[in-house]
Amino acid sequence: MNISNSIYSGVVGWSRLQEIILEYKKSGIYILVDENTRELCLPLLKAKCTGLEEALVIEMHSNESNKTIASVEKIWQQLVVGNAVRNSLMICLGGGLVTDVGGFAAATFKRGINFIHIPTTLLAMVDASIGGKTGVNLNSIKNQIGVFALPKAVFIFEEFLKTLPTRQKLSGYAEMLKHAMIHSEELFEKFIILNSHEKVCNEVNILESASVKLDIVNSDFTETGLRKSLNFGHTVGHAIESYSQKYDSDPLLHGEAIAIGLICESFISMRMFGFDKNDLKRLANLVSWHFPHYRFKPKPGDELLALMCHDKKNASSSQLNFSLIRKIGEPVFDKFPGEKLILESLHFYINLEVGFFV
Ligand SMILES: NC(=O)c1ccc[n+]([C@@H]2O[C@H](COP(=O)([O-])OP(=O)(O)OC[C@H]3O[C@@H](n4cnc5c(N)ncnc54)[C@H](O)[C@@H]3O)[C@@H](O)[C@H]2O)c1
Ligand SMILES: [Zn+2]
Repeated sequence: MNISNSIYSGVVGWSRLQEIILEYKKSGIYILVDENTRELCLPLLKAKCTGLEEALVIEMHSNESNKTIASVEKIWQQLVVGNAVRNSLMICLGGGLVTDVGGFAAATFKRGINFIHIPTTLLAMVDASIGGKTGVNLNSIKNQIGVFALPKAVFIFEEFLKTLPTRQKLSGYAEMLKHAMIHSEELFEKFIILNSHEKVCNEVNILESASVKLDIVNSDFTETGLRKSLNFGHTVGHAIESYSQKYDSDPLLHGEAIAIGLICESFISMRMFGFDKNDLKRLANLVSWHFPHYRFKPKPGDELLALMCHDKKNASSSQLNFSLIRKIGEPVFDKFPGEKLILESLHFYINLEVGFFV
């Protein structure tokens, strides 16, 4: 399945978006937002495009706790009230929450109406809006319910990032860093040289990062092989994200946890496959430059291992399956580092607190 022609940006993007809006105007346009993107992003969309005057705006609440089937039902109900038909169009204007929930609602309403994504967070631009995974959480298990469904198009406009808080930008930056590491020495080197998330966050680099994911997804849409490499940093990262949600009043954002996961999993890669120590050092210094050092509370080792095992459907620690990296640009997957090495990698991160890695 090739979806490579479906990302648009810049002037060409705005004019393609305008065409699509005029094409669907008669059959009904529904714009899904959350309260923040309604206030901060919808005015720009309406200023840039004509034909949205009669579009029905549907608002869902922000926050991951609203990534539920109840939110989807509210959206379906509003589509019914607004007389949506098979040939209507839903525009998902928001971060990954809106694109995941909106994509799912659209893909299931009347067996599927057309939808497009206009991601407004960096994370959604380079990751969530790409690749066709849509869905909601169930019983606090993430993305338990969902379908693969492709948007008609994805529009990446850096204008929307102007209002995005820095922490949210950094969260997306961590995913860009992951893409660079699994993709190529050149891209990783670019991040090292720029040494600033602000400089990295322009439309050219965002598109390049989104296309790293797109190319991988195109070669393995249903995640039987190469797509697993996108999980690099995520086995440890997810556990740290859950740990922080349990212990912190202001928990780490997804990308903030992934940045730590990238360090730990690069350390594991060094031990298992000889990943270059100098690249580990460059990564650790880049992450330390951008992200405050995270201080774990009680017994991080045992607890994080338990969270990893739970995340992998109660696997034992020796069965924990990692996506790692042999060298920059050479990902490997289905690897089993085992408990001792996982714990060592956590200690490696914890010991970085004393300063930069020299
Ligand atoms: N489908 C996939 O492949 C995939 C991949 C990665 C993540 N995800 C999902 O994405 C979700 C996280 O997405 P996210 O990180 O974009 O978070 P988010 O959608 O929750 O947005 C973060 C916050 O930023 C606000 N916001 C959005 N755009 C803004 C803007 N331009 N200016 C100011 N504020 C803005 C939102 O209202 C929200 O408060 C999770 O549910 C995750 O599971 C999906
Ligand atoms: Zn991620």
